[in-house]
This record gives sequence, C-alpha cells and structure tokens, in this order.
Amino acid sequence: MFEAIGLKKEYERDNMSFFAVNDVSIHIDKGEFICVTGRSGSGKSTLLNILAGMSSPTSGEIVFRGRKYSSLTDKELSALRGTKISYIMQRMSVLSNFTVLQNVTLPHFFNKWHSNPEGRARFLLEQVEIHHLARQYPPSLSDGEIRRVSIARALFNSPELLIADEPTSDLDDETTLGIMRLFESVVDTGTSVLMVTHDSSAASFGNRRYVMNSGVLNVLTQTSHTEKAASTLINQ
Ligand SMILES: Nc1ncnc2c1ncn2[C@@H]1O[C@H](COP(=O)(O)OP(=O)(O)OP(=O)(O)O)[C@@H](O)[C@H]1O
Ligand SMILES: [Mg+2]
Repeated sequence: MFEAIGLKKEYERDNMSFFAVNDVSIHIDKGEFICVTGRSGSGKSTLLNILAGMSSPTSGEIVFRGRKYSSLTDKELSALRGTKISYIMQRMSVLSNFTVLQNVTLPHFFNKWHSNPEGRARFLLEQVEIHHLARQYPPSLSDGEIRRVSIARALFNSPELLIADEPTSDLDDETTLGIMRLFESVVDTGTSVLMVTHDSSAASFGNRRYVMNSGVLNVLTQTSHTEKAASTLINQ
C-alpha cells in the first residue's frame, strides 16, 4: 500500500552537512501497526515529515497506492493528507479560535465526507474521552487534552494511513492505554498506523518495531499479531 525507498534528507548546520535521514526504506501494508523509537535527534520527525509529504527528501521516493509523491503537485499532496493519510505532528497544531468540536470537524470543510460530521466528531471525542469539552476553546485545555483533539481530528476521515509523532507524550498511563486501544481498533478496521514514541508503554504496541539511530532505521521485532500491553499497564 505504502512504500518508501532509499530516503535521504540532508541538512546543513554550521557549514557542515549531515543526513538526518540516511537511506531509509520501509513498506507498510494495510492494517499494520508500526512503532518507531529512537533517541532524541535521531531523525524520527524528519522521516515522518517526509512520509506525510510535508517535506521533500533530498533523494529517494515514496509510493502510495501506485502513485509517486514526486509526481504529485503540492495541492495533490495536501489533498492526500486531508483524506487518505492523516498526520499527528509532534508539535501540536489546533486552531485556538475554533471550539474543540469545530477543530475535530475541520477535515469536513476540505472534503465533505460524512453525512453527519458533528455526530462523527462527537463519537471520536468520546473515544478520546474529552466529549465534555466539545464546546470549549483550546487555550482553556491542558496539553494532553489538546493532544487528544488532534488525535480525534486525525481519525475523522478514517484514513488509510495514520502517521503519529509522539501522540501520547502528554498523557498519563491510563489515557495512553485508551489511545493505544483506539489505534488498535482502527487497525482492526484496516487503517495502518505508523507511530513514533518515547513512551515505553506505548512502544510495546504494534506488530513491527523499529529503532532509529543517526538517521538509520533498524528493525527490532516483527510479530504476526499486535501484542497487547494492556495487562501490563492494568496490573501496574
Ligand atoms: N531544518 C533543519 N535544519 C538543520 N537541521 C535540522 C533541521 N530540522 C531538524 N534538524 C536536525 O536533524 C536531526 C533530526 O531531527 P528530528 O527532529 O528528526 O529528531 P527526532 O528523532 O524527531 O528527535 P526528538 O525525539 O527530540 O523529537 C536533529 O539533529 C535536528 O537538530
Ligand atoms: Mg521528533
């Protein structure tokens, strides 16, 4: 479904160039749950930005459903991101002068998909346990609540691929477990998830795990079924 081949991203700092992403290839099939860990600065967000089509690689190619990113215009890439691929960025972005509910229904303005957008948004707000905040504005929310607004918004269009950069970094263990179960449930419906996390409880989810080290992506484990970390967390 989704394939990245030989991705490199070269940056320059203090007149020295370096590869933040260095020859990364990865394929993602329908319904896979992939988890990437790695030290700060190892290139994880740079990689996700490229995979989501937010920045271009120095070299390499991405193919989604047979179409090369390099053959798409910026408009086509943003349309792809608004419909089939959702990206939860590490640095949160929600619109302050829109309510929580309006933030979650935002994808509907670009792509009229649902017959009942408000119902869909309210359902997702319940899933991320902030339905009581639907009419509030982001400045009055905690970081973890805002994080959950961005998760609900990313799921609004039932994307084929969800790319999530540290989606649980502001959340407690119990809420993290709820979000991971939500991701598992969307994986069960055929969505693929590619998640970067520092969170050890979240990192135990997924059927394929990678570690990123100085721009290089190395496979850690691969299992046929998503391992559930629920019991570990519940027993804590
Ligand atoms: N625009 C840029 N120009 C130069 N260097 C950059 C740029 N963006 C990122 N970098 C550098 O590239 C490296 C990888 O950054 P990246 O944000 O991908 O790391 P990360 O693995 O996501 O880290 P973290 O876990 O802290 O989020 C870092 O050394 C960073 O300073
Ligand atoms: Mg990062």
